[in-house]
Amino acid sequence: MGETNKYRCFNEDYSLEGKVALITGASNGIGMEITKMFARKGADIVTFDLKRSEEVENYITDQGRQCLTVEGDLTVTQDIQNAVDKAIEKFGRIDVLVNCAGIGFLEMAAESTEKVWDMTMAVNLTGSTRMALAVGKTMIKNGGGSIINIASQAGVVALERHLAYGTAKAGIIQMTKQLALEWGQYGVRINAISPTIILTQMGEMNWNNEKGEAFKKTIPSRRFGYPEEVAACAVYLASDAASLFNGANLVIDGGFTIS
Ligand SMILES: NC(=O)c1ccc[n+]([C@@H]2O[C@H](COP(=O)([O-])OP(=O)(O)OC[C@H]3O[C@@H](n4cnc5c(N)ncnc54)[C@H](O)[C@@H]3O)[C@@H](O)[C@H]2O)c1
Repeated sequence: MGETNKYRCFNEDYSLEGKVALITGASNGIGMEITKMFARKGADIVTFDLKRSEEVENYITDQGRQCLTVEGDLTVTQDIQNAVDKAIEKFGRIDVLVNCAGIGFLEMAAESTEKVWDMTMAVNLTGSTRMALAVGKTMIKNGGGSIINIASQAGVVALERHLAYGTAKAGIIQMTKQLALEWGQYGVRINAISPTIILTQMGEMNWNNEKGEAFKKTIPSRRFGYPEEVAACAVYLASDAASLFNGANLVIDGGFTIS
């Protein structure tokens, strides 16, 4: 059998033991659930958020895992580099990056403001891209890694009131493909996850209303998602079981975008 046909064994329990993960937006919502599930799966964690969360820190250490907290703002390039430097200083490498931090302000195009556009692009697209670049370069040096970008169904299809948010998320999906194309050869895999509405602070703020109830009826599965369901996708993409996933967009939307 030639080299290309060799089957690489992986842990079928999707264990993340021995891996170091840097997770942005770890103090709330989806990022918090990803962090908790990663800790249960055995990863040591570097959290990056505007504000630290003691709940998250205690949860990680209660699982017997190591936790490094770095407070910072994704829109500040020095904060990104600081997080990467501190992670490397403590752990020597970063095996997984989850780019989860994001903001979601919705407005109709005709009433759209420069403020929402600029903030959304700065955090959701530019910040995430700069973090992927900073971490990815260390992964190339260390022989590989997995970058997971949290995009959205709004980056796949057009939705009312999503001009800035949807455009930024579509940008993240394309950024994922660009990096996957260039870095696959170095063992660095870059994939996206595109959830439907997820019941977090952000999800509730925008969708806990009549519009949300109407929206639910357009989802074939007739429900919104839970942060734990997105976390399970991230565990899979971080694990060695997903070693041939590169440049993919894992859509978790109850079938919303199929038609
Ligand atoms: N909730 C949903 O319905 C939904 C659906 C699809 C995609 N998403 C995406 O999932 C991700 C997480 O969403 P969520 O619902 O958990 O949001 P959330 O508001 O509950 O949490 C977002 C976290 O990101 C952090 N953050 C925001 N701006 C930051 C910055 N500049 N620097 C560092 N950290 C920053 C916040 O402090 C917060 O802890 C976002 O990228 C969002 O776009 C959410």
